[in-house]
Amino acid sequence: MRYVQFIFSPTGGTLKAAETVSEVWSENVEIVDLSDPNGDFSAYCLDKDDIALIALPSYGGRVPSVAAERLGKINGGGAKCALLCVYGNRAYEDTLVEMEDIAKACGFEVRAAIAAVAEHSIARKYASGRPDAEDIKRLKDFSVAVLEKLKAEVCNWELKPAGDRPYKKLSGAGLVPKANQYCVKCGVCAEKCPVQAIDRENISTADSKKCISCMRCVKVCPHAARSGSKAMISAVSLMLKGSCSQRKECELFI
Ligand SMILES: Cc1cc2nc3c(=O)[nH]c(=O)nc-3n(C[C@H](O)[C@H](O)[C@H](O)COP(=O)(O)O)c2cc1C
Ligand code: SF4
Ligand code: SF4
Repeated sequence: MRYVQFIFSPTGGTLKAAETVSEVWSENVEIVDLSDPNGDFSAYCLDKDDIALIALPSYGGRVPSVAAERLGKINGGGAKCALLCVYGNRAYEDTLVEMEDIAKACGFEVRAAIAAVAEHSIARKYASGRPDAEDIKRLKDFSVAVLEKLKAEVCNWELKPAGDRPYKKLSGAGLVPKANQYCVKCGVCAEKCPVQAIDRENISTADSKKCISCMRCVKVCPHAARSGSKAMISAVSLMLKGSCSQRKECELFI
């Protein structure tokens, strides 16, 4: 029996929540990084005795399309699976039901779902510092209950995560970070971009057709030399004020 974690986490919030859940299950969890643009995801083939965690952030209340495409290549082989959707304290809307549909189509047996909150990767003043100690305690409690469900001989309950079908329309953030005068052209941002939107020969900008506004390049720059437009981030923060300001708690669906 293997424990495998399939994760897409450009800025680390999803990773932190996923590690909190999976470390309760086993010390030996294989990690498959869906943010690797060179990953051969069709090479992953699980077995019905395996246990999987699929952990993705919510972008506009949906699964990031690049993560959906990469996840869709995996052969679940009947493995028992839990879903973890991580969002920035606004709303995750149809992300969990979309994850459920993708995982089932790949051959996973989906038995549990969790929604967790992490710092909003664009408007970072929202959910700043989350998942915090309270979230971590809650997620650890959830992971014990989830593991029990994953190990049950038969699945005789119907999973009903929050969300609607058809899913809400996909929308992009349209925020393409750029380098400033402190850029030393080290290439770290280009190397780490999940969709290879940054050309090393033209490092100061990114291909707006490829960029998914994930903010990883901003996070990984060792010289704090990359950022999104301040005006755009302020406008997004203002727009989110009403929906993001009140603390939302992690939720469990089993
Ligand atoms: C393009 C984009 C769209 C987002 N859309 C939402 C959203 O609809 N609702 C929400 O609560 N948070 C949203 N967020 C915030 C992320 O879901 C949240 O910060 C998550 O922790 C990011 O995962 P990561 O830290 O693993 O990259 C969005 C972030 C990005 C970059
Ligand atoms: S990581 Fe920062 S310093 Fe390095 S090339 Fe990118 S923007 Fe420039
Ligand atoms: S260029 Fe766009 S897609 Fe690439 S890391 Fe930066 S924000 Fe993400």
